[in-house]
Amino acid sequence: MEIRPALHAHLEWPTQHSPLRAATVAVIEALAGAAIELSRIIAAGPLAGMVGESGGVNPDGDRQKTIDIVADRLMRDALRAAPVAAVVSEEVELPETLDPDASLCVAIDPLDGSANLENNISIGTIFSIRPKGNDIISTFFEPGTAQCAAGCFIYGPQTVLVLALDQRVDCFTLDPRTGEFVLTARDLRVPQDTPEFAINASNRRHWSGQVRNYIDECLAGVNGERGQDFNMRWIGSLVAEAYRILMRGGVFLYPADARQGYREGRLRLLYEAHPIALIMEWAGGAASSGRSRILELSARTPHQRVPLIMGSARAVRDVDAIHLTVEPLFESSDAPLFARRGLFR
Ligand code: F6P
Ligand code: MN
Repeated sequence: MEIRPALHAHLEWPTQHSPLRAATVAVIEALAGAAIELSRIIAAGPLAGMVGESGGVNPDGDRQKTIDIVADRLMRDALRAAPVAAVVSEEVELPETLDPDASLCVAIDPLDGSANLENNISIGTIFSIRPKGNDIISTFFEPGTAQCAAGCFIYGPQTVLVLALDQRVDCFTLDPRTGEFVLTARDLRVPQDTPEFAINASNRRHWSGQVRNYIDECLAGVNGERGQDFNMRWIGSLVAEAYRILMRGGVFLYPADARQGYREGRLRLLYEAHPIALIMEWAGGAASSGRSRILELSARTPHQRVPLIMGSARAVRDVDAIHLTVEPLFESSDAPLFARRGLFR
């Protein structure tokens, strides 16, 4: 029978024993503890009494559910007990300083896709871990290449942890019998040849020429420029789309569009695009804004948005290539501005 190491044993195992890695492991384990609790609450749904709107909005304008606030509290409490100098959470306007002497900074989306909870569709927690720089808060405004680990918990038919650590991506499944995460897939690799795309097609009329061209080519199928038939998927939970792509390949796009407030896309750089990009790259995939590699971009503000195209490396390259050849319908502000340092530098 195959031996499946528990998360703790697996994280202890590798050969490097630097203090930074030990701190990173402590943060991952703290988040895993909170995720186990959150997954129980989510699985109980209405029985846990935590469905419905809280009446508030988060700093980026999304309406907060009660469960968003519960998830944020659970995750930030866990981080308070870990070696974390500061945290940026989707649910809180400004970075929060925890232990200024600790060695790591964490950005977190406590409950991604939470609007899907009442539809019983997978939702998740996304996190990004980076070593603290000389100044605590400006650590968050370094490019995504500064991350030393990232991951996401997915609360779906199974609760899983996708973890990018030590330049590799592994997957752990929560064993409901023991209440522990156990290793279920090592060294995930994004399949490269899946003709499957994910995009919120209801926004087509707002897209730039580049995105329209790419999707129109996909829709043209075997007779079009791409020479093959494509399938489409759209879940509306970034974590679930990322997991599907890790398993089956394909490409996900949340581009900038012409709607008010969407000129830099929908997803947030620090706690959505950066960590998902690290996962994709370490699993052999890619992530781009259409003009720049996501990991080379720096946020200017904590809740900075960014266009995100991620998945199989070849498909992401195809979308990038179209961006180079087609005139934009409108000027989105992605690459040039982001390539600079953040607001706080
Ligand atoms: O966190 C933002 C998010 O909920 C993602 O999980 C998802 O990919 C996206 O927004 C869905 O956006 P839309 O509202 O356009 O369907
Ligand atoms: Mn989110």
